[in-house]
Amino acid sequence: MNGIEFRNVTKRYGTDKNGPMAVKGISFEVPVGTLTTILGPSGCGKTTTLRMIAGLESPTSGSIFMGGRDVTTLGPGERNVSMMFQSYALFPHMNVIENVGYGLRMSGVKKDEATVRAREALRGVGLVGFDERLPSELSGGQQQRVALARALVLEPAVLLFDEPLSNLDARLRREMREEIRSLQQRLKLTVAYVTHDQSEALAVSDQIIVMDHGVIAQRGTPEQLYGRPESEFVAGFMGEAMVFPAVAQADGSVTLGPLRLQPRYAVAPGTVKVAVRPEAWDIGALDGLPATLRKSAYLGSFYEYGFDTPLGPVFVVSTDLSRPLAAGTQTTLSLGTHGVSVVPGA
Ligand SMILES: Nc1ncnc2c1ncn2[C@@H]1O[C@H](COP(=O)(O)OP(=O)(O)O)[C@@H](O)[C@H]1O
Ligand SMILES: [Mg+2]
Repeated sequence: MNGIEFRNVTKRYGTDKNGPMAVKGISFEVPVGTLTTILGPSGCGKTTTLRMIAGLESPTSGSIFMGGRDVTTLGPGERNVSMMFQSYALFPHMNVIENVGYGLRMSGVKKDEATVRAREALRGVGLVGFDERLPSELSGGQQQRVALARALVLEPAVLLFDEPLSNLDARLRREMREEIRSLQQRLKLTVAYVTHDQSEALAVSDQIIVMDHGVIAQRGTPEQLYGRPESEFVAGFMGEAMVFPAVAQADGSVTLGPLRLQPRYAVAPGTVKVAVRPEAWDIGALDGLPATLRKSAYLGSFYEYGFDTPLGPVFVVSTDLSRPLAAGTQTTLSLGTHGVSVVPGA
C-alpha cells in the first residue's frame, strides 16, 4: 500500500505555456510507514515536489494519489498532511502548549482535550516541563521539538519536512535527525523529507530520490544509491566521488590509465567513466598508479591526501593513522571494488 504516489507529475509556475518546468514528469511511491528523502542541489525541484504532496501547489499535469485515493485536485485541508518547514515558525506570543494545541483548537477540539493531547505529543518528542515557556525562551533544538510535536499532534497520514535541520549546528543536526528517524519508525509514520545534504539522506532514509533539474536522476535504498550510482551526477552527489574517463574492453574489464578494473556490473565496450570515492584508494600496493603526495591534512579520525598522478590530481581519504605520509612521498594507488562505480560515459 502506498502512502504517496506520483504519476508522471509536471509543474510549471506562472501562466506562460513555454515557461520553464520546475518538475518534469516524475513518478515515484512512498510506501506507508516508511521515510523517503528527496535529495538534490538547490533549485532542482525538491520544495515544489513537497508542496504538491501537501496540496499547496497543484501539478500542471499528472496525478497524485494518497492512500490509494486520487487527491490531485484536493486542497491541503482535504489531504490529512502536516508539513514542517525550513524555518519552523512557532507563534512567538503563544507558549509551548498553546503552540502545539493550536491546530487542534482550530479544528474544533475543546481546550482541555487539546491540552492533554498537546502534552502527550510533547512527551513523544522528549520535551517535558516546558509547557509555559515562550518560543524565545527555548534553544533551537527545543523549538525544533515543539514544531515537531505541533505537526505530530494532528496525527497526519503523511508528514512532510522541508530541510528541517538547516538552521541547527552540526551536533544538534545529527541528534535531531536520529530522533526524527526513531520517531518515524516507532510511530510508523509515512514521511517525505527534503534535504540537500547527502549524509543526512543516507542516515534517515528507507528510500532516497535524487533529483536533478526537475527529473529523478535515480531512486533506491541508501545502499543502492551510494554503492551503485547509475550516473556521474549521482556518483558525484552521493559522497564526493571523483570521476575519471576510462575504457571498457571487449573482455568486460575497464582500463583506467595503468589500472585494470573488473566492474561489478557489465558495461558495453567503449568510453565510460569511473567514479571513485576518496576512501576507495589503497595506498602503496605493489603495482598501481604512480602518485606523488602534494598535500595532506589531519582530520582527527582520518587523513586527507592530495596526490599528483598521470590521471591528474587524486583526492584520497585514509583511515590509516599509524603511518602518515609526508609531502613529496612517491607511492602507488590502486583500487578494490568497494567505492568504485563504472557509469556510462559521455
Ligand atoms: N513560486 C515560484 N514561482 C516561479 N518559479 C518558482 C517558484 N518556486 C520555485 N520556482 C522555481 O522552480 C525551480 C525549483 O524550485 P524549488 O522546488 O524551490 O527547488 P529546491 O527546493 O530543490 O531548491 C527553481 O528554478 C525555482 O526558481
Ligand atoms: Mg527548497
